[in-house]
Amino acid sequence: MALLLLALATAEGRVTTTAQNCRRIDHIYASGKDLCERMWGSAFRYEANESQGYTMWFFDASNPNDAVSGEQPPSSCNLQDHKDVPSPEPALFAECHPWRFKSCCSKAKVNSMDALKQSFGAQFHWDRCGPVSQECERFFVQEACFYECDPNVGLYRKYHRGIYDPRCDAKSKAYSPMYAASRLCSHNTWELHQMPIKASYCDSWYAACHTDYFCAGDSGDFFSCAGAATVIDEEARIMNKTWGAMSRGINRAEAFAQQELQGMLKALIAISTTLAALAIAFGCYLVRRERQGTPVFASPNAAEPRLMGAQRYVEFMEMS
Ligand SMILES: *[C@@H]1O[C@H](CO)[C@@H](O)[C@H](O)[C@H]1NC(C)=O
Ligand SMILES: *[C@@H]1O[C@H](CO)[C@@H](O)[C@H](O)[C@H]1NC(C)=O
Repeated sequence: MALLLLALATAEGRVTTTAQNCRRIDHIYASGKDLCERMWGSAFRYEANESQGYTMWFFDASNPNDAVSGEQPPSSCNLQDHKDVPSPEPALFAECHPWRFKSCCSKAKVNSMDALKQSFGAQFHWDRCGPVSQECERFFVQEACFYECDPNVGLYRKYHRGIYDPRCDAKSKAYSPMYAASRLCSHNTWELHQMPIKASYCDSWYAACHTDYFCAGDSGDFFSCAGAATVIDEEARIMNKTWGAMSRGINRAEAFAQQELQGMLKALIAISTTLAALAIAFGCYLVRRERQGTPVFASPNAAEPRLMGAQRYVEFMEMS
């Protein structure tokens, strides 16, 4: 019975965490505004006035984002892993081609969609809840190119030049743990704050992705999702398996379910084996204690033979 309860509790737990972390985009975010303003923490802000918002992609030869920044487009790059100053890239700059004439990223960094996906580590893969549709994936690629390559992004660095203190930045050579602890400061050179994004861009992103699944740990923030890496990757594995089985047809899906059931049975057998081993070990312990004259279950009747306590334990085990 206890084993059954344990199994139920385990199954229940898994269902609950899946529901919390991997959800449809339109179940996590209410709108394009909500997506832009929550998916990346406080990095972006939805700008209803299109002439004051940046776009994460463009087709013009010159970057329309320069005009949004004003008279003087930025002449330095300003973010972690960026070049020092923007410069042209070779013609074969395929993945992030809009920025080929003036870019803060080098070709090696953004060579392919995979390179972009890998650049922040496994915990920032946008398809951690299973495969993402092509039209949706484009937006994640665009965001990555925009962040890596657009010189205007550096203008919205959270710890900008005016406040940045390298003694507070664990990644900096000048980092001082004592100083950082005494000031309770933690700075970085990668984080953005409140960069205005065109409303139409956010709305298109939402429209392209609304039926795709995304990791929504702690209300849809990609960064908190990254923190919960292992749990979510396990969920993704299960969802990918389920998705694969379903797409191969009902029969296969049944086979898959049976496989999962077998997995659970195996787990149950492993648990009961462990419990049995523990029970035997405990029995041996009782016998030894009683042989030593210090029984764990002292008999109220002094006339009872010494092994009586262990005997009772064995009987109890046989009954249950
Ligand atoms: C949008 O922004 C532009 C440029 O700052 C400004 O001239 C225009 O009046 C704004 N439009 C609205 C509707 O606020
Ligand atoms: C999903 O499963 C397929 C094979 O069934 C595998 O090729 C693919 O890499 C998996 N994707 C993820 C994101 O785990």
